Amino acid sequence: MAAPSQHKLTVEIHRTGGPVRYEIPLRDNQTVLDAVTEVQRRFAPDLAYRFACRVGVCGSCAMSVNGIPRWTCRTHVAKVVVDGAISVAPLRNLPVIKDLVCDMASFFEKWTDAEHGAGAVFDGKATRHDPLPAIDPESPRRKAVDAGIECINCAVCYAACDVVAWDQGYLGPAALNRAWTLANDDRAANADAVKAKAQGVGGCGSCHSHGACVAACPVGLNPTQSIAGLKRRSLFELLRGSGS
Ligand code: FES
Repeated sequence: MAAPSQHKLTVEIHRTGGPVRYEIPLRDNQTVLDAVTEVQRRFAPDLAYRFACRVGVCGSCAMSVNGIPRWTCRTHVAKVVVDGAISVAPLRNLPVIKDLVCDMASFFEKWTDAEHGAGAVFDGKATRHDPLPAIDPESPRRKAVDAGIECINCAVCYAACDVVAWDQGYLGPAALNRAWTLANDDRAANADAVKAKAQGVGGCGSCHSHGACVAACPVGLNPTQSIAGLKRRSLFELLRGSGS
């Protein structure tokens, strides 16, 4: 078998209808998103994929690269290329609309459900006429919020999660991580309702603590730790005979 060219990159893209291989130049500092974009511009103008910021801020470029969910704009080809080739597919655990574009509705609906609990997104206790609440930045509750608050909803953790793969009713790491931040937010009027939802059917009890979400999160969050917090609080409440 001929050795792969040092100057060519084979990009296998799992398109609607099946995988297609394209060959493009291997370039310095080339990202996977650069490679997909070059394929689209040179060979496949109808190739569907998403991106926006190209600098690791929006999370919209998430795809499966060699079977691992990643932000493609922050993944250098040099880091993932194997024998001169990379494989790019849509995120796992989400329906595909076309080519590399997934339907994110189920992911966001679960997120919204976790946040709603029995209400809306963040539901503040204070009105605009109240003074700003004083939150001690060193309090354990605020530190729990800070540890999980930087999620940008890219769904990489959701695609990495094996529990989501076999149980589509599971809320998933991102939604439960968000629930944990709200459950610890002293300004949230709906904290108890959010927590109750996250501790219910399809919630934290379904997590097997595999940690795939932690390994995959592009911003270094630890959803497994947040979910463990929800589980711990459930246990305390059970032992205490309290639902709050
Ligand atoms: Fe925005 Fe990659 S395009 S994070």
